Amino acid sequence: MTLDELRRLDGAKLRYALMDLAKEVKGAIALGRGDPDLDTPEHVVAAAVRALSESVQPLQPIAGMDALRSAIARRAKGDHGLDVGPEQVLVTTGGQEGLFLVMTALLDPGDEILVPDPRYTSYDQAIEHAGGVSVTVPTYPEDAFDLKAAAIEPLITPKTKALLLVTPSNPTGGIITPGEAAKIAALAQQHGFVVISDEIYGKFVWPPHEHVSIGALPGMAEHTITLSGFSKAWAMTGWRVGYVIAPEDAIDAMAAVKGATTGPVSSVSQAAALAAAEADDACIDAFRTVYAERRTLMADGLSAMGLRYTDPRGGFFFWADSSSTGLRALELSYLLLSEARVLVFPGTGFGASWSDYLRITTLQPTEVLREAVERMTPVVQRYAAEAKARS
Ligand SMILES: Cc1ncc(COP(=O)(O)O)c(C=O)c1O
Repeated sequence: MTLDELRRLDGAKLRYALMDLAKEVKGAIALGRGDPDLDTPEHVVAAAVRALSESVQPLQPIAGMDALRSAIARRAKGDHGLDVGPEQVLVTTGGQEGLFLVMTALLDPGDEILVPDPRYTSYDQAIEHAGGVSVTVPTYPEDAFDLKAAAIEPLITPKTKALLLVTPSNPTGGIITPGEAAKIAALAQQHGFVVISDEIYGKFVWPPHEHVSIGALPGMAEHTITLSGFSKAWAMTGWRVGYVIAPEDAIDAMAAVKGATTGPVSSVSQAAALAAAEADDACIDAFRTVYAERRTLMADGLSAMGLRYTDPRGGFFFWADSSSTGLRALELSYLLLSEARVLVFPGTGFGASWSDYLRITTLQPTEVLREAVERMTPVVQRYAAEAKARS
């Protein structure tokens, strides 16, 4: 695919086209997709192997295995202060199905939903499918891309059905601070909209910041749908287990759609997720140490090569400004792939207006990440020097 053809794409289509292009580049290092590269913890794999050795795999209830729903509810309370029972949990085929079911069950055609800009654009597809209307809420580099109540308030209309929060954010690493969460909760209660809180990266918030679950705030249980899953926290992307926590009537509405489409999640994957949810967080703590090290490596690398970024407060991503190179992010990512053999995503993969930003993941072993930085540095510096000479 040529650069001109890529220019006509955005969102998920652009991301997938670049991943296809990277397959043709021998030895390319992928810093594109957001799937953890670390191994799924051994006790989780062992539980799946035990489940596999059963000669009959019972079909689980549509909403998920009872024990898993209970374990998720217990963790929601213990980890995040969400006071919920198992009947308020729906086990989904990854967070991806979860977000689709939430939009399908919640939105009627013409309903407005406030969404952060930039964002994980799978939400756009789900909202469009449900006939909803996305209203983008700006986020700014000077706020480290944290979503602010002051940016939300002027956009609320009588048609506002919901607000989407993704904390920490994919792609920016911005979060919802406790102070903003309280203000947003007040807006939700005053105007009667639902907050959809995607917390799939919630286990990876970098100190001194802390993860906040808005559904745990006073009066928010009835106003919040929390979405998360096992893909990121337990490095289980391919196992396809996510979950939605919501008031029981919303869970029933989503389960009805799930029953008519995919049915329950594979019983083997649910057994694995149960082992993950029931054990302590030692494996996640170990992952966190690895990701924190890589975050430092990438931060130092980007600073040295001269790409501006704001320190991500959570998650696996750097959201870096390409303008010092005098190139649009799409051009720069195209050149980084062909000249440095490193795949990064242009910002337009996450919202049409982000043509000067790159999303760079840290989901490669440390030595591979170091190699990627070494390959990127001369390319970025050369274009930056050319831009400077022109100005
Ligand atoms: C913000 C966000 N939500 C949900 C998902 C879906 O995750 P999965 O379907 O792998 O559980 C992703 C995946 O990258 C994501 O970035």
